[in-house]
Amino acid sequence: MKLTDALLGEHGVLYALFDHIEATLADAKALAEVQRTAEILGAALAGHAAIEDDILFPALDQTIGPDGPLAVMRHEHEEVHRMFGEIAAGGELAEAATLVRSLIDLAREHFAKEEQVLFTMSQQALGDDKLEELGHGWSKARRVYIS
Ligand SMILES: [Fe+2]
Ligand SMILES: [Fe+2]
Repeated sequence: MKLTDALLGEHGVLYALFDHIEATLADAKALAEVQRTAEILGAALAGHAAIEDDILFPALDQTIGPDGPLAVMRHEHEEVHRMFGEIAAGGELAEAATLVRSLIDLAREHFAKEEQVLFTMSQQALGDDKLEELGHGWSKARRVYIS
């Protein structure tokens, strides 16, 4: 499987998680509930971003170069990570819920840029064979074995 197809599949699962969290966030009665929800979302997003940071982006550094879209994507990964830290640090319930909503908005925009720009550039720059090879790195990282 091509790495970009695997990443697209992960986006699909994460979109469903975003929808669920947005629909249920208003039910939270305490800051700790919002923080626990953010921890689950954080774990899911960190695992996804790590695959892009460790497998896709280094291959693109060698082809399209580290500036432009790749610099934007890396910056947004860091921004999302920073926002999770802010939520974990505490504060008011309403503030934390607003931060989770902003984080989900940013993540959706980030995914859209990857889908519309970065993955298309990856296809052009790396081609089917290299993306298939990188896909093995994805299956190893996710412990999914494809024959
Ligand atoms: Fe990303
Ligand atoms: Fe992504």
